[in-house]
Amino acid sequence: MNKNKISIVILAAGKGSRMKSPKAKVLHTICGKEMLYYIIKTSREISDDVSVVVAHQKDTVIELMSSYFDDINFVVQDTDNFPGTGGAIKNISVKNEKVLVLNGDMPLVTASSLEGFLESKSDIVMSIFDLQNPDGYGRVIIKDGHVEKIVEQKDASIAELNVTTVNAGIYAFSKQILDRYIPQLNNNNAQKEYYLTDVISMARADGLNITPLLVDEERFKGVNSKKDLSDAEVIMQERIKTYLMESGVIMQLPSTIYIEEGVTFEGECIVENGCRITGNSKIINSHIKAHSVIEDSIVKNSDVGPLAHIRPSSLLEDTHVGNFVEIKKSTLKGVKAGHLSYIGDATVGEGTNIGAGVITCNYDGIKKYETIIGKNVFIGSDSQLVAPVTIEDNVMIAAGTTVTSGKIESGSLAISRTKLRTIENFYHKFFKK
Ligand code: UD1
Ligand code: MG
Repeated sequence: MNKNKISIVILAAGKGSRMKSPKAKVLHTICGKEMLYYIIKTSREISDDVSVVVAHQKDTVIELMSSYFDDINFVVQDTDNFPGTGGAIKNISVKNEKVLVLNGDMPLVTASSLEGFLESKSDIVMSIFDLQNPDGYGRVIIKDGHVEKIVEQKDASIAELNVTTVNAGIYAFSKQILDRYIPQLNNNNAQKEYYLTDVISMARADGLNITPLLVDEERFKGVNSKKDLSDAEVIMQERIKTYLMESGVIMQLPSTIYIEEGVTFEGECIVENGCRITGNSKIINSHIKAHSVIEDSIVKNSDVGPLAHIRPSSLLEDTHVGNFVEIKKSTLKGVKAGHLSYIGDATVGEGTNIGAGVITCNYDGIKKYETIIGKNVFIGSDSQLVAPVTIEDNVMIAAGTTVTSGKIESGSLAISRTKLRTIENFYHKFFKK
């Protein structure tokens, strides 16, 4: 695709009141990334001139999107004086003769599905689809094979409401058309907004031809409610997992697995049913067993789970983490932690074995502290390591020990236990049997 032929304007200034949320609609996330991220990513694949129109929560929108992309023009819409999709286009300046207008609430659009808009020579191309339930969409009125106008639901007559051909909300205009008609828009309608869709009826009245392009619902459906958001997430999950499986990841019962957009895999990896892998996690030659959660962490040459929780900023390498083990912000290299442990803010060295029930007590109610465990350390079951603490290489911690001394020197045994007492015959006396 030649990237320099078309400019793209993404409308993302609206509140999205149908989301019933304090958060701007385009900032709601799908598979770990904001809806707007996906449409900008797709736009960048086909154009070097991408503008995003912002207004509602603009500072947050700009800050978040700038963390992913460094070459986007943000344009602030004057929503007080010019609300609506037409108002959004008012102050746009673009580099190319052709302008593709996209909506920020369409995360599922792909670059290949936009080809029809790029190839057409028409002055105006607009997207349409037929819906069984057209509720909420602008209805497209076609007469004698020509698109006459788009009527918004709130302005539609009963007959118009029954029209099932709707405006998907994506258009390709020549720059000339926008320069000519945008200044002529008015807000004489039910919502008192400047509708971009009115460009269609104005152009038609001047005898111009409008090319309707039939698009598929799955990719072009707008997200307007939380139900739409979850439907879109299901589709995006499907895409992410299909891509990963095609790239060589083995997944068992993939419909039960959730993997976010930023997660990457390398080498031979197996993900069992019920797993959740989020953020920018990186999984390399590893086996993630059933119902484990991995958040923003690196897992290399390791096996995790079943039912393990690896929290952000952890690094596991050549490590075995078993069931009911929680790891947070820790580095474990060549370690075995088979069962029922909490390892937080720790660094653990090669050859170390962490027994069942071992806990790093990293928090005193005010601050978090670090635990450093050396190589070939054996930590017996049910031990607590009260941080800050350093355990040097080749140390044995006896089962049930509470380590509080700050440092255990190499070669030592640490043991803290009350002496075992046995009382003969006690059982029989107590239970009288
Ligand atoms: C719009 C179309 C409707 C179409 C539907 C497709 C208009 C008048 N209506 O309606 O015909 O069927 O999309 O999804 O265009 N936005 C701004 N500034 C604003 C208002 C909205 O940038 O002042 C942005 C929103 O952030 C959103 C997009 O424009 O990304 C569409 O706005 P939305 O409110 O969802 O429009 P719809 O009512 O869905
Ligand atoms: Mg919409």
